[in-house]
Amino acid sequence: MIRFYLNGQLQKLNQVDPNLSILDWLRTRKRLTGTKEGCASGDCGACTVVIGSPDPEQSGQLRYDSVNSCIALVGSLHGKHLVTVDALTQEPAHPVQKEMVECHGAQCGFCTPGIIMSLFALHTESAANGSIPDDEALLEALSGNLCRCTGYRPIIEAGRRACVQTWEPGTGNAVLSRSSALSGPNGATPNNPAPGLAA
Ligand code: FES
Ligand code: FES
Repeated sequence: MIRFYLNGQLQKLNQVDPNLSILDWLRTRKRLTGTKEGCASGDCGACTVVIGSPDPEQSGQLRYDSVNSCIALVGSLHGKHLVTVDALTQEPAHPVQKEMVECHGAQCGFCTPGIIMSLFALHTESAANGSIPDDEALLEALSGNLCRCTGYRPIIEAGRRACVQTWEPGTGNAVLSRSSALSGPNGATPNNPAPGLAA
């Protein structure tokens, strides 16, 4: 059995197909279709999700990284926290979402969710480190999100503006709190689920 969190909710999976991608699991098993499939080969970034893994440098904290879910396997999620664009539906909107709208950075429904998640990962890690990413960091964060339809200027501007803003998740949003993410609902952890949640 593997255990992990999906958007703050504990998941326990038995006999996982070793070839099952995170993207296919999200879309076909969980019916979370905010994460899109473009190339299905790790090139376009439409499928970008964010994964929190225990940070070896900060005990009890998660480090959040953007990942192409089409080429990452569900089996690799054990002990981690998977965050998808579906989690960003509550008010107040995340600064990345707000600035993508205000800067007219939103593109089509395929690339935009991936762009949001790449910038979300950058914002989350920058906020945790108390740093403001420079343009080089912004470009690197977006380097895996491809769109040939238009320009990146408004997207980069949205990232610049978003990363100087703080964000407090709304009441009841357990998804994006760094401290609650690792402990999860009811104080559970992926490896040590709370009593009553154990298999
Ligand atoms: S669908 Fe293109 S990188 Fe995953
Ligand atoms: S791929 Fe979405 S607008 Fe170009």
